[in-house]
Amino acid sequence: HHDTTIREERLLQVCHLLEQNIDYYDWVGFYFRNGDKEELILGPYAGDETDHTVIPFGRGICGQVAISGKNFVVPDVQAQDNYIACSINVRSEIVVPLFVNGENIGQIDIDSNVPDAFTDLDERFLEFVNAEVAKLYEVK
Ligand code: SME
Repeated sequence: HHDTTIREERLLQVCHLLEQNIDYYDWVGFYFRNGDKEELILGPYAGDETDHTVIPFGRGICGQVAISGKNFVVPDVQAQDNYIACSINVRSEIVVPLFVNGENIGQIDIDSNVPDAFTDLDERFLEFVNAEVAKLYEVK
């Protein structure tokens, strides 16, 4: 069993690493399904504090990914009607689901202040990051 505190520290390190080293990653955080509830809870993150610590399934980009289990790339957040704004500076967003043993347990969410910032390379890279993060949950 992997200690929860150690796991949260690792996730926080991942958030800071990404936010500090990739210039168009302006907010990086993990959301997790809250037990059997149809809602997401904010986990470790790097960037400005957000009011959106609980997101019901279906709401915003994150809530939609909680249901679909698919990557969601948003080139222009202002063009989305089901979107939760965390900062007026954010122009684009990417959310990639986190699977552990095939189960969608949460997601990584990245906001950019640059319009249309995210490409296929970000999707592939964040899928890799999430696969590494999943190992923290799969170990006994
Ligand atoms: N924009 C997200 C909400 C989370 S904040 O970006 C940190 C959404 O629409 O789900």
